[in-house]
Amino acid sequence: MKKVLVTGGGGFLGSHLCQRLINDGHTVFCLDNFITGSEANIEHLADDGRFHLLKQDVIDKIYMEVDEIYNLACPASPPHYQADPVRTIKTSFLGALNMLELAKQVKGKIFHASTSEVYGDPDVHPQPESYWGHVNPIGIRACYDEGKRGAETLCFDFHRQYGVKIKVGRIFNTYGPNMDPHDGRVVSNFIVQALSGQALTVYGNGGQTRSFCYCDDLIEAFVRMMNSPDDITGPFNLGNPEEFTILELAERIRGILGSNCSIVFKPLPQDDPRQRRPDISLASEHLGWRPQVRLEEGLKMTIEYFDRLLSKQGGNI
Ligand SMILES: NC(=O)c1ccc[n+]([C@@H]2O[C@H](COP(=O)([O-])OP(=O)(O)OC[C@H]3O[C@@H](n4cnc5c(N)ncnc54)[C@H](O)[C@@H]3O)[C@@H](O)[C@H]2O)c1
Repeated sequence: MKKVLVTGGGGFLGSHLCQRLINDGHTVFCLDNFITGSEANIEHLADDGRFHLLKQDVIDKIYMEVDEIYNLACPASPPHYQADPVRTIKTSFLGALNMLELAKQVKGKIFHASTSEVYGDPDVHPQPESYWGHVNPIGIRACYDEGKRGAETLCFDFHRQYGVKIKVGRIFNTYGPNMDPHDGRVVSNFIVQALSGQALTVYGNGGQTRSFCYCDDLIEAFVRMMNSPDDITGPFNLGNPEEFTILELAERIRGILGSNCSIVFKPLPQDDPRQRRPDISLASEHLGWRPQVRLEEGLKMTIEYFDRLLSKQGGNI
């Protein structure tokens, strides 16, 4: 059994990862400053003797004896990462630097949570890992996109220069329970709006595409990647290659809920990608991994979560 550090462990994906690692019998150190995460996501783990919470910023250096590090700390939704862009790029770059330094010191392995945003608004579709991307380096999304690109550069330089064992996963849109209802991601926005009887907000004409991966599928990929042989570094695209337009997603959610709530259209934000779909051939070949949860099934589990949250909070999210 291993000692595992999860940065951003109080967030949406981090909380599922902590749970999975505890289930697998490991000791877990969850580091989070809760800027976007929530203690409610991990409170059920607090009584487990193998779970340790460190309320700390990943921008600050840390030393601890661990075998593995999953570096997830970073605000992930545009409203959150654009609220304090300087802090976002610092978190992405300095956080990765600190965790790579730690991995080097303890001779441990590090999984770094990168993103499909490294491809920017892609000219190549679907996006293979060999595509270098189309990112506006000075736009309002750059604090995140370029922060993540710089962090990937650091990972590969630590690997080449110091032999640090790295695993870089480029995560595509993922959804599921524990998402923050207010962080402006499309799946949680639509579900919360539909459950509260509001109109669904679509940016642009809704013809832009995304592919949506259920959180359990993604966490399985993280763990498989961490357990893969040392010469497997990635970057690997991790996501669900089924592609839907935003309007199709709205229709699915309305269909599951039997809701006829209306749709309001708002202007598309700057640099919003027109299309997104991962080519997951490398992850499939090297990790034997493919997402298993269909959109309909994943949406139902996510809707149940938000429905419970809504009832707990007396109808207000
Ligand atoms: N969910 C997705 O669809 C998606 C897609 C691409 C990439 N990712 C990446 O996966 C990771 C997790 O994303 P998520 O969806 O769980 O987002 P999230 O916002 O729910 O989780 C991020 C966590 O990091 C913490 N954090 C942020 N800055 C920190 C700092 N300076 N020090 C310590 N903790 C800090 C937050 O409090 C939060 O708990 C992020 O790195 C994100 O970029 C997620």
